[in-house]
Amino acid sequence: MKKFRIALIGLGTVGGGVWRHLHANHGQIQLRTGADIEVTRTVARRPERAAELGVPESVNRTDWKDVVTDPEVDCVVELIGGTTDAYLLVKTALENGKHVVTANKALLAEFGHELFELALEKNLQLLFEASVAGGIPYIKAQREGLIANRLREIYGIVNGTCNYILDRMLREDEDYATALVDAKEAGYAEADEALDVDGHDSAHKAAIIAALAYGFWVPCHDLHTEGIRDISRCDLLMARRLGYEVKLLAVIKCDEDKGVQVRVHPTLVPQGHPLAAVDSVYNGLYVCGDIVGNTMYYGMGAGDGPTASAVLADIAEIATHFPESRTWQPIATEDTEYHLKPMADIVSRYYLRLSVIDKPGVMAKLCDVFGRRGIGLSSIHQDESEEGGTATLIFMVHDATESVFAAALDEITALDIVQAPPVRLRVEDLS
Ligand code: HSE
Repeated sequence: MKKFRIALIGLGTVGGGVWRHLHANHGQIQLRTGADIEVTRTVARRPERAAELGVPESVNRTDWKDVVTDPEVDCVVELIGGTTDAYLLVKTALENGKHVVTANKALLAEFGHELFELALEKNLQLLFEASVAGGIPYIKAQREGLIANRLREIYGIVNGTCNYILDRMLREDEDYATALVDAKEAGYAEADEALDVDGHDSAHKAAIIAALAYGFWVPCHDLHTEGIRDISRCDLLMARRLGYEVKLLAVIKCDEDKGVQVRVHPTLVPQGHPLAAVDSVYNGLYVCGDIVGNTMYYGMGAGDGPTASAVLADIAEIATHFPESRTWQPIATEDTEYHLKPMADIVSRYYLRLSVIDKPGVMAKLCDVFGRRGIGLSSIHQDESEEGGTATLIFMVHDATESVFAAALDEITALDIVQAPPVRLRVEDLS
């Protein structure tokens, strides 16, 4: 039987999971791939971690530079995260003729263009199933299963940590900070949790999905990104009263003019839609193709098991074809017909929560701003409040252009009747 020799670089939550599950299911993977997959090298900066997992001392190294050029390695599995060492590591591995598997979405969002080109030039595989949607085999579905389709709309709940936090806040009345600690303890969050809660992790994943679908890489700084830090439980509850759930959503949509919207923000999703039922650490993607129609993908989005499952799928894919290398179409192409649509030009519905002084004339002033700017309201809500105190107003807004709504919001924020920064969330009807 052919041998396939891999180096596992990084033995954290995911690396440890890959080590354990590869050994536990070795026989079955061998049967299905026709390859005896052997971990000939690991890299753990702390040798105690390698020992804890039962990695023989002779196998572990503490520096990735000792491994990426090693002739005993056919495939490097990058699981250290970050974009500095990870970039050098992946690049050096490819330059030295090694196939690469990575779970690193930040790396691909930033350097994907260069790294995939290098892999293609060297006729090597650079696979990344674990970089998007954890355990859901989503990359394979989009890249292979939907290959013949023009994808019109892709909506994704692609960050397990944020989905878990929003769920805990709503269901358990847990505060944001406690829910975040729980997510970290469960091994869902990134080492730098700001990547999760500020939306960047979802944005990296959205950039990968968009590149696969439309053939161009959106620079991270051009991708509109908002996180969940400013969401309060009262917004989650109000959304529910209005018939929605709040989700951190990656929206990737192609308009008639081939302008592609790629954006990440908390979004009101209608309760009857399958995405509204994606809770806890689960991820979900709802994808509409011109041939297939609507499709839905669901599974755990983070944690050692789901991520290890995706990493092992990539390892198995390469092992199956080894020593041949399967050739993929380039991800980004010079002659793509699509382009990024500026955020200012997108059209959306909005939810707006305002804290205002409760006195006569306030509603008139606010409606005047909306009316002058041609913004239509689909509903207005106010619970009973004390005259002269603070009233909470919720406006649901019909379709408006982002730049027009932003200007209205600036004008409203500057009014002396407004007592706290407004909370603005977008609404997707997903119909
Ligand atoms: N921190 C990520 C998440 C891990 O919570 O979704 C999986 O990419």
